[in-house]
Amino acid sequence: MGAIRVLIVDDSPDMVQNVQKLLHFAPDIQVIGAAGNAEEAFARVASFRPDVVLMDINLRGRFDGLQATQFITQRWQTCVVMMSVQREPEYITRSMELGALGYLTKPFTGDELVNKIRTAYSRFMSLKRVGYEEALQEVSQNRSYASPVPPQPAASQSLRQIITIYSPKGGCGRSTLAVNLAIALRRETNRSVVLVDASLAAGDLHVLLNMNPSSSIEDLRQGVGSLEYDQVRGAVAFHEDSGVGLVRAPMSIDAAARFTAEAMKAVLVELSDHFDYLIVDTDTTYSDYTLTALEMATLVMVVTTQEVTTINRIGQFFEIAERLDGVVPKIHLICNRVDPMYGIKVHHVAARFNQKFLAEIPEDARVAAAALNRGVPFILSQKNAPITKAIEKMATGVAKVLNTAAGAESRVTRNLSGPRS
Ligand SMILES: Nc1ncnc2c1ncn2[C@@H]1O[C@H](COP(=O)(O)OP(=O)(O)OP(=O)(O)O)[C@@H](O)[C@H]1O
Ligand SMILES: [Mg+2]
Repeated sequence: MGAIRVLIVDDSPDMVQNVQKLLHFAPDIQVIGAAGNAEEAFARVASFRPDVVLMDINLRGRFDGLQATQFITQRWQTCVVMMSVQREPEYITRSMELGALGYLTKPFTGDELVNKIRTAYSRFMSLKRVGYEEALQEVSQNRSYASPVPPQPAASQSLRQIITIYSPKGGCGRSTLAVNLAIALRRETNRSVVLVDASLAAGDLHVLLNMNPSSSIEDLRQGVGSLEYDQVRGAVAFHEDSGVGLVRAPMSIDAAARFTAEAMKAVLVELSDHFDYLIVDTDTTYSDYTLTALEMATLVMVVTTQEVTTINRIGQFFEIAERLDGVVPKIHLICNRVDPMYGIKVHHVAARFNQKFLAEIPEDARVAAAALNRGVPFILSQKNAPITKAIEKMATGVAKVLNTAAGAESRVTRNLSGPRS
């Protein structure tokens, strides 16, 4: 494969020069030009057809970097990586919504820049294989998201199932569902289950389980590439009452910034080599590590509530998911905090996404809050509560979806290996 051809779009000549210098020593990246405003950028994209456009978000002139990104991704289906001094998640979200495939916060190091370009471009290439143009132009509303069978990585000893729980809206119950599902799944399948707290800046799974392990996902990240089995096991703390493992979120909030897509991928691969089910709790961002947790999943559980703001955000998420590698077919929706008296009716929410809910978890603030404050998941302490029963049913549903996937996978493998005699 030839070098990745990069166009730099920034109105500061110093910044352009700096980026050029940083990229100078990357053997697989070639800077093919620069532009100081959006119009110049359009002309250069049209004539040079770069592989990656590095775009300054605060471009001066008629169009800013966001508008330019939208135009470039729609007109030429080119991979855009946004550069910005803004760290706020809203900017990242907005960039991804408008078509960017990567986001770099200034100032960045040469390694960060090179890694980001490689990750975004490889994401772009896999999208191209599945029809990028279509993915960019499809609008979520009229599309059916009914999930076929999720793909599954080749199994060795462990089942290697990765269940990523995501919602673009905070506070709608991802962590509560993750913890209780993990325990239910462990009971249901008697397999090893590990919770991975990938809510890197504000993870609280350890609080929900009343645990205080001294190692975290950050230790795994630091050891990537040279981790021995004992070190992987050492990063997992086990919850006494349930036997579920926990890899807690980093102790320092800065660690999130160090988690590249590659680091998250490597950590999840290492863990899934040793444990049957990983349940990955996420944050609401479209950061590289979150997108990777979605792409690596065998099953993506997207949590909604009956509120219009959550539903709208999930609509946007589906548009973004279209641009990720194989994520949409793995999505199953969960409706949490279901209340038959209040909120938008559950069947209307389901109809909005053309998908049935994999589970409907009832509202029970008393049980949920008490469990959280005590650090004892309600599945252990409130065995007969409807909310517990709903989680158990969800775990059965999850195991069934994943078994179906495994069955389909082996059927495909059999079919590919030629006619049976
Ligand atoms: N089914 C439910 N009924 C009532 N309350 C619930 C339910 N599920 C979650 N909650 C409550 O909602 C609040 C948020 O839950 P949780 O922390 O699990 O959400 P989250 O999506 O992980 O949030 P964050 O964005 O902070 O990561 C908590 O107070 C929790 O007790
Ligand atoms: Mg949470």
